[in-house]
Amino acid sequence: MSNNSWRDRLRALPVFGHDLPGFATDAAPADPIDLVTEWLSFAIDDGVSQPHAMTIATADADAAVSARTLILKDLTPEGLWFSTMANSQKGHDLTANPNAALLFYWREHGRQVRVSGEVSPGDRTIAEADFLQRSTEARAVAIAGLQSGVLAGLEQFDSAVADARAILDFKPDYVPDAWTAYLVKPMTMEFWQATRDRDQIRLRYTRTDGGWARELLWP
Ligand SMILES: Cc1cc2nc3c(=O)[nH]c(=O)nc-3n(C[C@H](O)[C@H](O)[C@H](O)COP(=O)(O)O)c2cc1C
Repeated sequence: MSNNSWRDRLRALPVFGHDLPGFATDAAPADPIDLVTEWLSFAIDDGVSQPHAMTIATADADAAVSARTLILKDLTPEGLWFSTMANSQKGHDLTANPNAALLFYWREHGRQVRVSGEVSPGDRTIAEADFLQRSTEARAVAIAGLQSGVLAGLEQFDSAVADARAILDFKPDYVPDAWTAYLVKPMTMEFWQATRDRDQIRLRYTRTDGGWARELLWP
């Protein structure tokens, strides 16, 4: 298929043809954590698909950027939480450069939330509780091999996961040292709302000494 027909096919796809929620920026709360809580809560209640899935972009020591999807594990006044292995690619990136960007896209609501901030490992007890809430299979896979390391083949995977299940049978509360709950402390957060007539509303919060500054952005 030529480039032209791909352009036509892509151009023909609808983006926001459905009813969308409004965004009264004048009434937005002073703290962006309250607003993301409000938007996420509405996304969950309204049946948005995987509303807790977010993209996280990190950069390594050479400033090479990479992104992947993660699950949001908690929202607290301090920020947004995710869990992963500290010895994964993203874990190494965060050790070299603790700045990261998060992105939520709730397509059913035409909403995007961008977060940039500083990432730090949370208390060990949070990581332990988080790991123990995972299914046995998810725990076995997490401890079977080095996340982001090269896998020789599916046989290696099956046998390593079987070994990991045996470890968990013997020690059900085993938590690997590398499992880490990370807190993203937002420095900026931007809330983007599409409207049906293709306008967009953008509100950015920037952390100040004692609170948050708010400003509208051109779409
Ligand atoms: C919907 C979805 C949710 C995911 N949630 C997590 C998660 O919570 N923690 C995690 O370590 N990986 C999760 N992954 C896998 C990551 O996207 C990624 O493949 C993995 O963490 C390795 O990333 P890295 O090589 O950049 O370290 C998820 C993937 C998808 C598609």
